[in-house]
Order: sequence, then C-alpha cells, then structure tokens
Amino acid sequence: MNIDYKNLMDNAKEASRNSYSPFSRFAVGAAVLTSTGKIYRGCNVENSSFGLTNCAERTAIFKAVSEGEREILAVAIYSPNSDSCYPCGACRQVLFEFQPDEYEIDVITENLGSLEIQKLSYFLPCGFRI
Ligand code: THU
Repeated sequence: MNIDYKNLMDNAKEASRNSYSPFSRFAVGAAVLTSTGKIYRGCNVENSSFGLTNCAERTAIFKAVSEGEREILAVAIYSPNSDSCYPCGACRQVLFEFQPDEYEIDVITENLGSLEIQKLSYFLPCGFRI
C-alpha cells in the first residue's frame, strides 16, 4: 500500500486537539493506519489517579482493534508541546502486538516541520511475543 504519511500526521495533529491532559499539560495525538486502509485517531486521556492515564497511541490502537482491525501498517504521533514525540515503551510493545507478519509498522514523527519515518524495530528491536 502507498502510505500518505503527511495525511496520517495531519490526523494525529487533529487528534491532539482532543487531548485530556490537565495534569501534565502535555497533549499528544496519534493516528493509526490499518490494513483495510482506515485511519483511527487517539489522544492521551489522563486521570486524577495518575497511573490510569492512557497514551494517545494506545487509545488509537484500542479503537482500531475494538472495531475488528488487527493489522496496523503505520502510526503517526504528534505533540504540540514537543518536537519528535516518540512512542513510550509500553506503546511500542502494544504496536508490536498488531504488526502484520509480512510488514513492519512505519512510525511517523515530526521534527521542526519535517517528517521522520522509522520502522518499529528501530524503537523496539526485540518485541515480546508468546
Ligand atoms: N504520552 C502519550 O500520550 N504517548 C506517549 O508515547 C508518551 C506519553 C502522554 C501520557 C501523558 O498524558 C503525557 O503524555 C505525559 O507523559
């Protein structure tokens, strides 16, 4: 599939506008592209009980999976509060769970207006699988 990385990043930017982050004041948006060609957006959702916070990436992934999607081809991550908002360790492993057998997930971030595209294995070389 020919992936429109800029469009995916635009979706992540749009998603970051819904961030619920009154505690960290660090907004994040994510957008995942699935093998059916659909895009699912997510934002970080914080909680007064801090440990219950859900990252933007996992919000987007769980939305996709709960709609029956199990193959993620690409994810874009954006924060208006920082350049190069890379996925946290937990989200790397959750992405790995839904990486197709025959394709490595593209991870798209933005730094000073330029897109950076890396494969998931750059961030998570030895993901865990049962
Ligand atoms: N956050 C994400 O949404 N994604 C990440 O990959 C890193 C961290 C959120 C969680 C929390 O709401 C805020 O950023 C500060 O850690």
